[in-house]
Amino acid sequence: NTLIELSKAMPKTELHLHIEGTFEPEQMFAIAQRNNVELKYSTVEALKAAYQFTNLQDFLDLYYQGMSVLLHEVDFYDLTMAYLEKVHSENVVHVEIFFDPQGHLSRGVAFDVQIKGIHNALQDAEKKWGMTSKLIMSFLRHLSEESAFETLELAKPYLAWIDGVGLDSSEVGHPPEKFLRVFESSKSLGLKVTAHAGEEGPPDYVWQAIDQVGVERIDHGNRALEDDKLIQTIKQRNLTLTVCPLSNLKLCVVNDMKDHPIKQMLALGLHATVNSDDPAYFGGYMNDNYTSLIRNTNISKEELFQLAKNGITGSWMAEDTKAMHL
Ligand code: ADE
Ligand code: ZN
Repeated sequence: NTLIELSKAMPKTELHLHIEGTFEPEQMFAIAQRNNVELKYSTVEALKAAYQFTNLQDFLDLYYQGMSVLLHEVDFYDLTMAYLEKVHSENVVHVEIFFDPQGHLSRGVAFDVQIKGIHNALQDAEKKWGMTSKLIMSFLRHLSEESAFETLELAKPYLAWIDGVGLDSSEVGHPPEKFLRVFESSKSLGLKVTAHAGEEGPPDYVWQAIDQVGVERIDHGNRALEDDKLIQTIKQRNLTLTVCPLSNLKLCVVNDMKDHPIKQMLALGLHATVNSDDPAYFGGYMNDNYTSLIRNTNISKEELFQLAKNGITGSWMAEDTKAMHL
């Protein structure tokens, strides 16, 4: 299939990727063993067999369990480097990755341990391959505003390494407005702002993200399509949607890849991009997401190019760097 070959060969960016969601079972077992941590599953196969989700929470329960074997700086380095090597081989030239500090702080793993491991891997990827990156610290929305503020405080010595803040974890019941003040403080520190919205949550959560929080991007945004006025507003403000096709399928946000709305988003003039979210859990990295769209929808070459281009323009690269990639 020439479109598949083309999508593999295109230079791509990844704008929606949770580093803890790149934890492949084999690597998880290896790190568990060297750290003397017991996993709930006794074999790689048993763990993989558990990757059957009916909604976001099903997945999150396993995701937080999986990350619990990460204890030392080298663990964060190895996890990040394995991901970067993988996507380098897929012609990804720029990544903007989330990490979930609270998922590690709660287990006694210090902020500096986490960020040093991740940052050093990002730096090494740039030295080795010229792959550029941004790092986004994500607040866990099922936790309190106070906990998010504590996390922001811990991040202050490392602001030179952090480009923005995000909002993830269990969406329904935890609207963006719960974190308005944390986002305001983050912005005043010079951080960019994005949020998961409209993955499972209603269009109103997307409205809150764009009108109250003032996000520069929307992570997922699928349910924005239920509200015509919202669609027009996202379009007018030129906000990028970081869409995650295989994630949407695995978490039952869509029932069939044939029904995936990404072509509809493009047709509406929305700035959609392709991303892998948590590739180790959802059955594929960047190229697998494109391949699945090509196999299951009648997506055209022009649409594929548009998606890749949107990934450049919607990134947080400097404008002159974007121009170099286009
Ligand atoms: N954490 C990791 N992946 C996530 C997703 N897709 N939605 C919300 N929180 C997440
Ligand atoms: Zn996500």
